[in-house]
Amino acid sequence: MRAKLIAANWKMNGSFALIDAMQKVLSPLLDETTCEIVICPPDVLLSSLNNKVKGSRIAVGAQNVHSETSGAFTGETSAPLLQECGVQWCIVGHSERRILFGETDDFIRSKTETLLKHGIRPILCIGETLEHRESGNHEEKVIAQLVKGLSGLAVDDQKRCVLAYEPIWAIGTGKTATPEQANSMHKIIRKELESLASSEAAENMQILYGGSVNSENAKTLLSQSEIDGALVGGASLKINAFPQIVAAGS
Ligand code: PGA
Repeated sequence: MRAKLIAANWKMNGSFALIDAMQKVLSPLLDETTCEIVICPPDVLLSSLNNKVKGSRIAVGAQNVHSETSGAFTGETSAPLLQECGVQWCIVGHSERRILFGETDDFIRSKTETLLKHGIRPILCIGETLEHRESGNHEEKVIAQLVKGLSGLAVDDQKRCVLAYEPIWAIGTGKTATPEQANSMHKIIRKELESLASSEAAENMQILYGGSVNSENAKTLLSQSEIDGALVGGASLKINAFPQIVAAGS
């Protein structure tokens, strides 16, 4: 049985005050929820978040990392430093990084490898554009990203990764993939994991859905057989919505 994982991607939003507010509204849920909860704030908030949630069910995640562990990479953050800030998870391959910052599959794969070497679990995002979906080659595109993201990693390392299927046309647009569309893509991803990793890995690896998840649609999405959690953007900043999404996965 795969545990549900609800990850908050705050993107370039949030504040020290939001950490306090979110912790306050989540704390009544922590004893009863069966979900793993990960909050990924901007890097400057990581240490503060870690100090507040250490020892609780809430884990600390980063939104990005560099593949190198030190050096002349102005503005970047290394995996060892993330580790020092108490980071246990890190998003890689988000479509905003791929599109706005030109990140390639190769770079994403090296980041994944670096994270794993430093004991940080990657949340590898994959997803198709609207153009790919309309032209019917969305499955092929998503599988290509999956294969490139995990290829060459030992099966034990692949098993430490969580996948997030995020159709680009559903991110921040208010358009959610239907539960059937999402579930069917998750099935295809899981099938591919059988040959890429192993059937045991495919059975146990968590595949999250992301793209306009909110407090209204979370329950239906999370009750699909292949959807093991959610990567939540906009709604993860709302103190009246995020706890409801966690509750929907419990
Ligand atoms: P959204 O973002 O929930 O605002 O669509 C999801 C994501 O980008 O991870």
